[in-house]
Amino acid sequence: MASIDYIVRSGGPLAGTITVAGDKSISHRAVILSALAEGRSEITGLLEGQDVLGTVAALRALGVAMEGPREGRLMVDGVGLYGLKAPVGVLDLGNSGTSMRLLAGLLAAQPFGTRLVGDESLMRRPMERVAVPLRSMGAVIETGEGGRPPLYIVGGRALRAIEYRMPVASAQVKSAILLAALYAKGRTVVIEPAPSRDHTERMLAGFGYPVHREGATITLTGGAGPLHPVRLDVPADLSSAAFFLVAASIVPGSCLRLPRVGMNPTRRGVIDILRAMGAQIEAQNETTASGEPVADLVVRSAPLRGIVIPRELVPLAIDEFPALFIAAACAEGTTVLRGAEELRVKESDRLAIMARGLASLGVAVEEYPDGLDIKGMPLKGGVIDSGGDHRVAMAFTVAGLRAADAIEVRDCGNVATSFPGFVACACAAGFNLEVKAP
Ligand code: S3P
Repeated sequence: MASIDYIVRSGGPLAGTITVAGDKSISHRAVILSALAEGRSEITGLLEGQDVLGTVAALRALGVAMEGPREGRLMVDGVGLYGLKAPVGVLDLGNSGTSMRLLAGLLAAQPFGTRLVGDESLMRRPMERVAVPLRSMGAVIETGEGGRPPLYIVGGRALRAIEYRMPVASAQVKSAILLAALYAKGRTVVIEPAPSRDHTERMLAGFGYPVHREGATITLTGGAGPLHPVRLDVPADLSSAAFFLVAASIVPGSCLRLPRVGMNPTRRGVIDILRAMGAQIEAQNETTASGEPVADLVVRSAPLRGIVIPRELVPLAIDEFPALFIAAACAEGTTVLRGAEELRVKESDRLAIMARGLASLGVAVEEYPDGLDIKGMPLKGGVIDSGGDHRVAMAFTVAGLRAADAIEVRDCGNVATSFPGFVACACAAGFNLEVKAP
């Protein structure tokens, strides 16, 4: 099948107000928790990317009636914690690791069995990290070869609370355990090795379900009552905004305004890292929406310098490294990243694929098991294979703004998983971008 390719050339400064898509992590959770609430919830600002639509389709298959999504609005008729029905056939979650891992936690507690599959990329991703703690709660879950999907969840098991010290900082694993814990007898305790995004905890509280956090320890007691329906407004996704933060930083004379971007402290690493590199990013009109901090971001071009990225910021910026590597390639000096081995098990092996792409643009890059060294230098043009990874595709599109010749980025169809309006936003900002679609 012919792929969607982007061709991008350097051009003039970027300017304007760019409203990026709704937050992917928050959108998944909004759909799942609304489905479990007793009554009708209204979600606005929902990301209508393929990943979230996969979660919507899965919950419909589990018997939840929904209207939409249309222009980011989804009405969900929640069935309560005990109202889900056995789906007919397998649940195909496409490219979405978040859908598969979060739903694994929820489905482990249901009275029926389910089988979860995904696309080629998702079928390669590690699933034992959710299966192990769920099994210790009493769930019966089979994974495929090497601990990868398909997942077969037997269901019909009474779950018990656990105390679980997570070996990796993972919001998906934490969330899977918390969703299962809603149904488990007793008090479940999850201890994080480092903070990971806390949208599930915040949102459960918003639905009226008590969750307690003290330092790195999160506690939730099963059977503590129903989830109450809500109106929930999803902020713009900082992970999508990151491409524009880097783009405006590296193109001289640029200034972009990005309204209502999620500024959750467990997600904000990209801003801290870019600022440490010299980026000029201002947060204005800081406020809170549906339990999440939001702000308008204003970014102006600025000379960037290489830095050693503080390890504690890695989990707080885990999805933004493809964009940050482009910033590093355009910076003066060397940027050093370590402690980021998790990047090897994302939608692609992001360390390998970004290193390969950067090298082909003439950048001096050194690959390590858990990171990269990137020495900034002038970029050449060329052809880049995104490996079907949405964030790799968008990152190299941004690189094209600073390359001597055109960059052709191949296999960009999956940009629609997280940021369906990317091309429109990029063109509105002033990218010189052409799309070659079959
Ligand atoms: C996510 C958590 C992160 C992140 C992913 C979304 C979530 O994954 O990379 O894109 O919504 O919980 P891990 O939990 O594997 O770190």
